[in-house]
Amino acid sequence: MKILTVGGGGREHAIITALSHSKKVDKLYAAPGNGGISALAECFPVKATDIDGILELAKKLEPDYVFVAPDDPLVMGMVDKLNEAGFKTFGPKANAAILEGSKVFSKALMKKYGIPTAEYETFTDAEKAIAYIKEKNSFPAVIKCDGLALGKGVIIAENLEQAENAVKSMLLDGKFGKSGSEIVIEEYLTGPEVTVLAFTDGKTVKPMISSMDHKRALDDDIGLNTGGMGTIAPNPLYTPEKQEECMEKIFLPTVRAMEKEGRPFKGCLYFGLMLTPNGAKVIEYNCRFGDPEAQVVLPLLETDLVDIMEAIWEEKLDSLDVKWSDKSCACVVMASGGYPEKYDTGKEISGLNKEGQRENKDAFVYHAGTKLENGKFLTSGGRVLGVVSTADSLKNALDNAYSAVGEISFEKAHYRKDIGKKALKS
Ligand code: AMP
Ligand code: GLY
Repeated sequence: MKILTVGGGGREHAIITALSHSKKVDKLYAAPGNGGISALAECFPVKATDIDGILELAKKLEPDYVFVAPDDPLVMGMVDKLNEAGFKTFGPKANAAILEGSKVFSKALMKKYGIPTAEYETFTDAEKAIAYIKEKNSFPAVIKCDGLALGKGVIIAENLEQAENAVKSMLLDGKFGKSGSEIVIEEYLTGPEVTVLAFTDGKTVKPMISSMDHKRALDDDIGLNTGGMGTIAPNPLYTPEKQEECMEKIFLPTVRAMEKEGRPFKGCLYFGLMLTPNGAKVIEYNCRFGDPEAQVVLPLLETDLVDIMEAIWEEKLDSLDVKWSDKSCACVVMASGGYPEKYDTGKEISGLNKEGQRENKDAFVYHAGTKLENGKFLTSGGRVLGVVSTADSLKNALDNAYSAVGEISFEKAHYRKDIGKKALKS
């Protein structure tokens, strides 16, 4: 088989690595890919959001499947366009990707079907939104813009002034463009967060191994929110009892609700959950693998990923046994100094071989923002590398990952030193 993967980050490197282990794969392509991905797949300089460009590329390469990995092209309807042109795909159509593309949609769906989530109201008018916040007078207040916003569209306001500024920046100043023309104001929830990714063909849902992301830029969960600075899997807080509760109250009801609404979700559905004192609640849905969750979940997958893609495409996921390793996996993200705000690129990365890997096989390096130029790996993004290790225990996985991180360097590299610390304590 020939498979084209759309995207060029650490998540896509993890997906392409899993595909490269498939017995069924002869040739892998990526668009745009990155420095590390180029060791496994032929890369084409077409942007992941360029629907016409990807369609043209697919017509040229004639892949058996196109794996659309990032949120924007899914929400924009890339899968619909590829299917219309006769290509098989992995990823939801636009009418299902809306689960991530519109928080107003996903909150209304959860309300309609009784899926546990934070209480909320939606607003398009700033004055009404501010009046509501004043009336509630409960802080922190959670203010979210409706659409995609590169992970920056959620503001946890500690007081009225911050809340007013957030509302104004979204509804009046257009800070997030159309994504922020409608907002959700919701109840502040507390409790540990768990990510559960799930394969679904629109009817059957098969949750993957749970994981824990570390979203803040700095140690001890301080600093700005990022796309994710590191992950571990499985998440020890996600007990078998929680798993059962989530399956019954969240995963199955969500997949059934989408089917009932005429929006069957096919692909990977991301459940961002909070384990509150009143039970597990949905913080957010994403319509794709998480990044860097994919980097710790996919290495634990023992079933051929292509078999899963085929089962989802043919809507036969119920008859496939999806197997997981009982090992642990850890990912430490090395980012450019300054990320998630301003940072430099073009810095040479040392400590990698010509495949962009470590010679020592205890750790695998997923490239997120790198490019290969004249045989050298250079930084080309905020998140640069995800250094991953799989081991018999979480502690060993973390030790291996951190030991490899210590041997890789680039100017102003920044990484968190406490990935997995909370999980080890629990
Ligand atoms: P999101 O981009 O929706 O994942 O939100 C970013 C982060 O904001 C989440 O990972 C949570 O830590 C936090 N968050 C979002 N919604 C809430 C909420 N209702 N209560 C408390 N924290 C929240
Ligand atoms: N790591 C969070 C996300 O992929 O949205």
